[in-house]
Amino acid sequence: MPELNDILPLPAENKAVFKFLENRRSNLAKAMGEPGPSEAQLQDLLTIAARVPDHRKLAPWRFILFQGSARADFGQHIASAFMKANPDMPADRAIFEGQRFLRAPLVVGVISSPKECPRGTPEWEQVLSSGAVCYNLCLAAQAAGFGAQWLTEWYGYNNDVTQAMGLKPAEKIAGFIYIGTPSEAPKERVRPDLKPLVSAWTSSQ
Ligand SMILES: Cc1cc2nc3c(=O)[nH]c(=O)nc-3n(C[C@H](O)[C@H](O)[C@H](O)COP(=O)(O)O)c2cc1C
Repeated sequence: MPELNDILPLPAENKAVFKFLENRRSNLAKAMGEPGPSEAQLQDLLTIAARVPDHRKLAPWRFILFQGSARADFGQHIASAFMKANPDMPADRAIFEGQRFLRAPLVVGVISSPKECPRGTPEWEQVLSSGAVCYNLCLAAQAAGFGAQWLTEWYGYNNDVTQAMGLKPAEKIAGFIYIGTPSEAPKERVRPDLKPLVSAWTSSQ
């Protein structure tokens, strides 16, 4: 392991990471193809994803991986959950729904899995940590040369789907992170005007 002192903070003249963050954009899951990460790269990505702020080291999250034929196999659960919830939809919609995970070579389900904490880390903080995992995974994937997008779509909130994934009652989908090789560059996206979003507290408030 490197001495953290040698890495953090980055030397001011190293602008590469700053530029990467300054220009960060998601890739589109629908424009993502092979190859995905190798097994070794996947382990690196998950290791980085798990290196997030986590109050009291609870690791209140876990990962479910969808790769290879598991993507189409799980698609059958997505398709049947969709048709159950929308019985009036034409049958060919089931084909579309069943192919969602086939958009990318790797889909990582990040599960928020809050822990009982005798020392009182609030569940809210544990959920926030799961969001950080999703974001770190996206950044790590892009830093490794892949495209990444964080989606929940409708199936992230469907009980039949979460049951098929084996989620426990207290668990929720934080996100499905689609990872693959992008076939198109992302376009710029309008970013919020910071003016109304930032205020300085003063004692006269
Ligand atoms: C929790 C969460 C769930 C999201 N789910 C969706 C989704 O289902 N569909 C979608 O188009 N974008 C979704 N997004 C937004 C994309 O991840 C992405 O941020 C968006 O396309 C904007 O691109 P950007 O990341 O380059 O700003 C979600 C974002 C978050 C934080």
